[in-house]
Amino acid sequence: MQPDPIEPQARPRILATYPMPERVVAQLRGFADLTVLDGETDPQRVLDQCQGMDALICTLMTKVSADFVARLPQSVRILATYSVGYDHVDLKAVQARGLPFINTPDVLTEATADIAWLLLLGAARRGWEAQSMLREGRWIGWEPTQLVGADVHGKTLGVLGFGRIGRAVARRAAGFGMKVLTFQRNPGSGDPLPDHVELRGSLDEVLAQSDFVSLHLPLSEQTSGWLNARRIATMRPGAIVVNTARGGLIEEAALADALRSGQIAAAGLDVFVGEPKVSETILSAPNTYLLPHVGSATTSARDGMGLSLASDLEAFFAGQPMLSQVDTSV
Ligand code: DGY
Repeated sequence: MQPDPIEPQARPRILATYPMPERVVAQLRGFADLTVLDGETDPQRVLDQCQGMDALICTLMTKVSADFVARLPQSVRILATYSVGYDHVDLKAVQARGLPFINTPDVLTEATADIAWLLLLGAARRGWEAQSMLREGRWIGWEPTQLVGADVHGKTLGVLGFGRIGRAVARRAAGFGMKVLTFQRNPGSGDPLPDHVELRGSLDEVLAQSDFVSLHLPLSEQTSGWLNARRIATMRPGAIVVNTARGGLIEEAALADALRSGQIAAAGLDVFVGEPKVSETILSAPNTYLLPHVGSATTSARDGMGLSLASDLEAFFAGQPMLSQVDTSV
């Protein structure tokens, strides 16, 4: 007799939309029948492949809309995203359907904080322009006024969003002799603040008093387009913007205008509105240091993300508690 597909002793069937690191595939295959698609992002094609699956592992490249959730086959009992961010997922729909939902916090914190610093330094010291000049054979020797950038040491860094990644970025600032400003909705929650970190009364105050700002807010209806023309006008002239969170936090046209006028001296961006397409507005703006969403792209972070999902999925199918279940009611 065929086993009932949802009997606990049956091997669960898991669909992943993208190829994953070998260690992750091995762990998943240890307890489940795994189907891996070749980087499928189209919602309808993902839904078609979900037929008969018990779990779906998607990435931020798949928009998990209310319609997508409504059309997920009933066999799918748990949803996982290979990311810490989940702005691509309609949480209300996931909650209404009663679908457990897991993500990958913690394991990518340090890697992403490192990339924020690459962007900060690359933007401040004109890294991209310098590379292009050298590689294109336009470097004709050292000059007193050549490629002069902004000092980083001793400056003030505003960390907008003081979660795990924001804190890790702030920790690194101590080594550069920087003062860090941040805002916490519940001051005193979490670990005590290091000596070089000062609280301000709002995100807007942090923005207005910083030479560099690094964005670490989650993207939501409340934060979409947060760094807009009005807020940019309140920033210190010549400030530098870094974004490793989500492109949608910034109104790109307003940022490009400010880069052109010099109100913002430079921007280091790892994330964009409408990825993987990067708008001409941003590509043509001066003084940018751009990366293709590689914040978590280290072996340990990407392995860690997948292994964390695999452990939680194994726990779920064994009826055990999971470590990284998203609270979809918030
Ligand atoms: C995330 O996890 O949300 C990053 O943007 C990709 O690693």
